[in-house]
Amino acid sequence: MNKIVRKKLLSQVIAEIELSAPHIAKSQKPGQFVIIRVDDKGERIPLTIANSNQEKGTITIIVQAIGKTTVKLNAMEEGESIADVVGPLGKPSHIEHFGRVVTIGGGVGTAIAWPTTRAFKKAGNEVISIIGARTKELLILEEEMRAVSDRIIVTTDDGSYANKGFVTDSLKSLIDNNEIPNLVLAIGPVPMMRAVAELTRKYAIPTVVSLNPIMLDGTGMCGVCRVSVGGKTMFACVDGPEFDAHQVDFAGLMQRLKVYQKEEKLSLELLKSYERVS
Ligand code: FAD
Ligand code: NAD
Ligand code: FES
Repeated sequence: MNKIVRKKLLSQVIAEIELSAPHIAKSQKPGQFVIIRVDDKGERIPLTIANSNQEKGTITIIVQAIGKTTVKLNAMEEGESIADVVGPLGKPSHIEHFGRVVTIGGGVGTAIAWPTTRAFKKAGNEVISIIGARTKELLILEEEMRAVSDRIIVTTDDGSYANKGFVTDSLKSLIDNNEIPNLVLAIGPVPMMRAVAELTRKYAIPTVVSLNPIMLDGTGMCGVCRVSVGGKTMFACVDGPEFDAHQVDFAGLMQRLKVYQKEEKLSLELLKSYERVS
């Protein structure tokens, strides 16, 4: 059992949750994730380790409630415990001194980009962050990202805050302004990561994305998280989750993410109807 020691809502649908997990806190590196189960009958879901505190023996996860398990998790309170947390899993982000690095976080992807952005800054890179959300209320971690960046650009799709437009519009402006990055890290919805990859490919800018296929065991055994990268089958849980964006088959990833959509919708509806009667 892992106790929730702190919980804070970052938006209506996104919660920051600090969990007791001393062994994971000790060994985790930026870019790695955990697989959690909320209760003993629950499914296993992957979540990135956004932060850790070795002294307290805690890790922090940032969770967007979009289906049954994430809705249940975000409804839990401080002092309650979740059934189990496995990790750290996945390959850590590749950190070195690249020069100018642009990190892009779309929506909840900002939470996943945050630890790696911190590490890029620590390695002496010039870091420009671009973070975006559909609307002001959904924007997260602006101050946290500002603290680890030389410059931050904020976008909202509807123009309710900062620059109106997609994160890709801001990346294009940087490139047009001849501020060419040596590396781009893009994390967010698959259409966003694909759009970033298409843009940077034209300029031959090395680009890394963090992929989010459905995962089960997280140890390379079940094959559920398979993705096609450079024509080869890779398991995102052990070969990733970060990959060369210009090699990823995004259409295949999108298709696989939809496989259980009907069942996922039904299971969320059942959870909601159960909550209404109990
Ligand atoms: P489900 O009922 O399983 O799904 C609800 C809806 O979300 C469906 O439309 C479904 O198609 C879609 N969906 C399901 N799984 C995923 C997925 N893996 N990615 C995108 N959409 C999905 N989410 C966070 O909020 N914070 C994180 O830090 C985070 N880190 C992740 C790290 C990795 C390595 C991976 C693979 C995913 C990560 N995710 C993260 C996504 C998270 O795992 C999913 O949102 C979660 O599994 C959904 O479970 P659910 O039961 O709530 O929803
Ligand atoms: P969202 O749909 O609100 O998009 C966030 C931002 O991404 C937008 O504000 C925009 O700037 C950009 N964007 C979206 N579509 C774009 C496009 N076609 N072209 C260019 N830019 C685009 O995101 P959200 O609802 O906060 O995030 C939810 C999604 O995040 C989930 O559906 C899931 O696919 C994804 N996700 C990804 C990971 C990962 O590891 N990559 C992990 C968790 C969730
Ligand atoms: Fe099973 Fe990756 S989640 S092989």
